[in-house]
Amino acid sequence: MTGDEVAPEQAQRSAAQPSAGRPLVDRHGRIHRDLRISLTDRCSLRCTYCMPAEGVPWLPGPTLLRTDELIRLARIAVDLGVEEIRLTGGEPLLRPDAVDVVARLTALRSPALPHGPEISLTTNALRLPALAQPLVDAGLTRVNISLDTLRRDRFRELTRRDRLADTLAGIAAADAAGLAPIKINAVAMRGVNEDELVDLVRFASRRGYEMRFIEQMPLDAGHVWSRKAMVTGPEIIETLSAVFALQPVGARGSAPAERWIVDGGPSTVGVIASVTQPFCGACDRIRLTADGQLRSCLFARTETDLRTPLRDGSDDAAIAAAMRRCLEGKLPGHGIDDPRFLQPDRPMSAIGG
Ligand code: 5AD
Ligand code: SF4
Repeated sequence: MTGDEVAPEQAQRSAAQPSAGRPLVDRHGRIHRDLRISLTDRCSLRCTYCMPAEGVPWLPGPTLLRTDELIRLARIAVDLGVEEIRLTGGEPLLRPDAVDVVARLTALRSPALPHGPEISLTTNALRLPALAQPLVDAGLTRVNISLDTLRRDRFRELTRRDRLADTLAGIAAADAAGLAPIKINAVAMRGVNEDELVDLVRFASRRGYEMRFIEQMPLDAGHVWSRKAMVTGPEIIETLSAVFALQPVGARGSAPAERWIVDGGPSTVGVIASVTQPFCGACDRIRLTADGQLRSCLFARTETDLRTPLRDGSDDAAIAAAMRRCLEGKLPGHGIDDPRFLQPDRPMSAIGG
């Protein structure tokens, strides 16, 4: 038998299980275990760094993945070694069957993952008063909640909606339902909320949540991002160090946040310095948009269409092959510093955070 031939029993096994055993590796040796699924591009807020005030070009309904399609893609990805699935949006909880999606994702199994994938959620919290408990019952374990300011007027300006009280109620509901850890994400912005960094850490620490600050990335719908308006990770740490004793936690692995223990603990604060200290070398993420396009990076300029093979009768092996093809084009880094850098055509709300 030559090296190219496959023993019949082996061929049979690979037909039944097209992909098991071979993880999703890119050309730079990065293994992909984290799948982010955007459940919808709709949102109940209009954060200035993410969406335009009006005239959002919504994805057309027929292009959106149905739930059975989405679950099939997730199952194939789990067979390819995905261990963690994060649900994003837009606002993922605007999808009417979001709880059912969580239950069905939690039930996925593969030989390498007998307990199923870990399911987490990035949300603006507005629907959590109604959904936190059902989500926990469906198997959700972790939640990241976006909160950029504790001031009502500022919240209204930043999100273009007067919903601070509802957001806070959603955070409390997540806590009451037992979701842990609760991570609160704020995009740090010059002249907008940079004077609230300390207040936000106090808010989170007192309640046992982890505050995380994110450098603003060029993903806004208006394409007006500027490096000058970005508060950098080192600046954030400098501001916090003036008030808190910060002790580095170290070893972040593939996690984007660098973390510090605040005032001796137990609370911690994280900084996600995606622009000034990129963590692309350890990236293990791939992203699926609500209309079934696979993206190897937030900033990718190309997408791999999975919706067409899903709908033209392609088998799992063909879809797995398309997932692998997507990763072949994954660049080593986001290249924001490259003069030729071009922002992706989709706004953040249509990519998924
Ligand atoms: N830069 C950094 N983070 C962003 N998010 C949305 N847009 C941007 C951006 N331009 C984050 C929000 C939220 C998640 C959905 O993505 O803070 O936590
Ligand atoms: Fe909605 Fe999140 Fe975008 Fe704000 S950042 S508009 S909450 S998707």
